[in-house]
Amino acid sequence: MAELSRRRMLVSGGALGALGALAMASPAYAWTWSPQGSIAGAGAGADPRWVWDEEADALLASLLDRGAIPEVNRLLWDWNRNDQPLPDGLPADLRDFMERARRMPSWADQAKLELAAQFNKSRGIYLNLCNGVGGGMLATAIPNEARAVYYSKGGADMEDRVAKTSIFGFAVGALNAYRPDGTCVVECVKTRLVHAAVRHLLQQSPHWGGDIPISQEDMLVTWHTLPTFAMRKMLEWQVPIRPAESAAYLHVWQVTAHLLGIKEEYIPATWDAANAQSDQILPRNMGPTTEGVELTDILLSQLAEQTSPLSVSRPLCNALARYLVGDQVADWNGIRREPIWDPLIRSLWPKLVKFREGLVPLPLVPETAWIIDEAVRRYILFFLTKGKETKIEIPTANRPG
Ligand code: HEM
Repeated sequence: MAELSRRRMLVSGGALGALGALAMASPAYAWTWSPQGSIAGAGAGADPRWVWDEEADALLASLLDRGAIPEVNRLLWDWNRNDQPLPDGLPADLRDFMERARRMPSWADQAKLELAAQFNKSRGIYLNLCNGVGGGMLATAIPNEARAVYYSKGGADMEDRVAKTSIFGFAVGALNAYRPDGTCVVECVKTRLVHAAVRHLLQQSPHWGGDIPISQEDMLVTWHTLPTFAMRKMLEWQVPIRPAESAAYLHVWQVTAHLLGIKEEYIPATWDAANAQSDQILPRNMGPTTEGVELTDILLSQLAEQTSPLSVSRPLCNALARYLVGDQVADWNGIRREPIWDPLIRSLWPKLVKFREGLVPLPLVPETAWIIDEAVRRYILFFLTKGKETKIEIPTANRPG
């Protein structure tokens, strides 16, 4: 099935073509995750590889074709807060879409969102590490995503792209994420518009040649590299998490998924459903690409620059990345093995976590562990300050060249 072009299939047979191709799918690729495990609790069970974001996609294609995006970006530059009215002057079809897209879903639970915000703060170090370094390293090992990022406009300037992505990370993790004075709704809606624009633009890139990018399945895959991956890592590290906190953390990401344009029939309702979905779709969507190797190298050198006063920085960053995502993904990404730091991080990180959680006293934490701690701290500081320099904007072109 992987070799069947989605675009070709859609062009040749629309929905019927998709059904035909579905019948040909090998069992390994069959979509068996039940919509009963979703927020919607029901659904047609359509394979999310062949579902995108129809309303946003048609709208952005039209806005791009009409040459409206530069003015839209100018108008949206100062649209920042969740409670802020949309600026005057937006095209009527876009305004109408955005008014609906920015609404919180009926199932959003403010009390859970508040608890999630507290959890994001108290567990900030783990979450930032998992979502920033971990999520970044996993994204480059997802061929669909690595290629989309590489050949889209931002691929030519990864520094700026990291900054833009960190705006989003910062918004989700903020204490006021979904309060009126927060920014999460705004960043999600802007990102939804960016993705719809990328779906239109990438198909015009001479380097692309693949399917329509950023399907519902692609978005779910990326989603799992964020909350699902982070929750699994924290459990592996034995970070104490109360059941209410775990449910709240899932909830903030369910709301985020909805605002990003993921359909409710695909958004997992529980951690069990999330883990099952992740296990079904991550393996079949991961692997090595030359683009992913290049992007990984750029990301790790940026990270190493932030930790450069620690002198051991690049080997330490390589080892931290390998520790987070494991050998298979690290090898796909071309991350060098570090004979000194790889074993050190494996043995020291769990001790640091235990110390942070008050489970072991200071004397049991070796001196070298603080170098790792400092590297993580510097990285997170970088992650949090970087986003202040820019804003998320809708692209009007692909990567030049
Ligand atoms: C843009 C987040 C899924 C490819 C962005 C941006 C954010 C973001 C915050 C805006 C920053 C920027 O413009 O650089 C997310 C989240 C996702 C997700 C939270 C899922 C939960 C995906 C997937 C793909 C993808 C699955 C590809 C398969 C892109 C591309 C851009 C982008 C190509 C535009 C970069 C440019 O303008 O050049 N995404 N994304 N994203 N995303 Fe995503």
